[in-house]
Amino acid sequence: MLKDNKYPQNNLKPNAIDVSPSFDKQFWASAYQNVSEELTNQSLVVTKGCLPKNLCGTLFRNGPGQMERGGKWIHHPFDGDGMITAINLNEGNASITNRFVRTQAWEEETKANKFLYRGVFGTQKPGGVLSNAFDLRLKNIANTNVMILGDELLALWEAAGPYALDPKTLETKGLSNLNGVLKVNEAFSAHPKFDPGHHQKKKIVTFGVKTGPKSKIRLMEFVDEGEQCGHLIHDNTYNFKGFAFLHDFAITPNWAIFLQNAISINPIPFLLGQRSAAQCLYSSPRNQSKFILIPRESGSFKGQNPRLFNAPDGFVFHHLNAWESNEEVTIESIYYKDFPSIGPEQDFRKINFDSLPEGLLKRCKINLQKESISTTIISKQCCEFAMVNPNFVGRKARYAWMATSECEEGNGPLQNIKKLDLKNGASSKWSASPEGFVGEPIMVPSKYSPNEDEGWILIMVWNGDRNATDLVILDSKDLTLQAKIDLPLAIPHGLHGCWVNT
Ligand code: CO
Repeated sequence: MLKDNKYPQNNLKPNAIDVSPSFDKQFWASAYQNVSEELTNQSLVVTKGCLPKNLCGTLFRNGPGQMERGGKWIHHPFDGDGMITAINLNEGNASITNRFVRTQAWEEETKANKFLYRGVFGTQKPGGVLSNAFDLRLKNIANTNVMILGDELLALWEAAGPYALDPKTLETKGLSNLNGVLKVNEAFSAHPKFDPGHHQKKKIVTFGVKTGPKSKIRLMEFVDEGEQCGHLIHDNTYNFKGFAFLHDFAITPNWAIFLQNAISINPIPFLLGQRSAAQCLYSSPRNQSKFILIPRESGSFKGQNPRLFNAPDGFVFHHLNAWESNEEVTIESIYYKDFPSIGPEQDFRKINFDSLPEGLLKRCKINLQKESISTTIISKQCCEFAMVNPNFVGRKARYAWMATSECEEGNGPLQNIKKLDLKNGASSKWSASPEGFVGEPIMVPSKYSPNEDEGWILIMVWNGDRNATDLVILDSKDLTLQAKIDLPLAIPHGLHGCWVNT
């Protein structure tokens, strides 16, 4: 393990030439194309290996599917309209259904064949600054994650309400207020946490943020099994100082843990139509990153005030996991040196990976009694989309699976799946290089084994050689390839998803 301060400080090489031999940039960039078809229960053919018989269920994935309209490209992939893919596996058979989420904006823009809304990450409407100035409407693109809550399949985008879809046909039913839980267009996080039974019953813990000079976090817990499945059982709102950009969080039996990044917003270029909302975010050295620990209603500290602790420098989108031991809370997260943004003049398809900070997995131990924090780097290799066995969420896990770059240090596109032993640092990898680019790995534990690393890893892989997407299934224990399916579809590099057993 490396101590934080032993790691080289300057990892940013803004003028470096991208000469990484592990990937072809054209192959990487070729994933960014409009999803051209919507398939319905189309049978799939396994092209390598065979499907595990015990792996029965549906992989749901969300991500941007609309990259261009009327010849104009989105400015950042995060601005692409959400497209849901559902791959059903059933006793050796596989089929695929995919649908765009029919959001209000998607319907209007499809009819007009042009962008009618500004995107949060930099996409502007045609017509220049004048056409964009003072247009503060938020375009809910429902592109970040997909989850089952009660009997609804929800497409999530954190700054607005969820869109409900039919879990079988993926037909959009419309914006959902979750049976009256949410106000019209209330923010609802794209990073729910699935409590595997910290207090006997399974629950879904999630949140919504209302941000501004002061921010509010609404923390919600829903029942996730039995007759009451989908019912809201805990609901509390907390006020905090400062602008909060909270994409993800972590849970333990007693705490919901947030990391408030030290960033600020200068909204003026956004109001004037010169920059998007996200392009107005900047690291604020005057601010201090904070961990916010909110007591869970079902835990031992119920009713107590949230606790705040100084957090390490850097910017965090995603956490791996958190757990408690004695007076310590430990949280593992992926840290960037700075907020990675794509400026108004840059084309995301030509981005120089070396000019962007890489994500490093770090472990922070927060001592609640001494109010002290210690940080260690647990993986120096650029990574994203890390997860533990879902049965170990909120508990100390031995293993993690994540997407990493091919290069050992510095930044690069995600091409490997890495299994990391969190106890001793040992790791193994599966590589899709040079033509393949991996998305978020989803670990599906075996129902028939108590071993933490027994099960499968499901990954959507962009295959630049084939100009289409592959579904790859690995053995989660040793990362050997179990099955590969050449999907009859080109799906751009995606975001998050989930597995639902049948
Ligand atoms: Co995310």
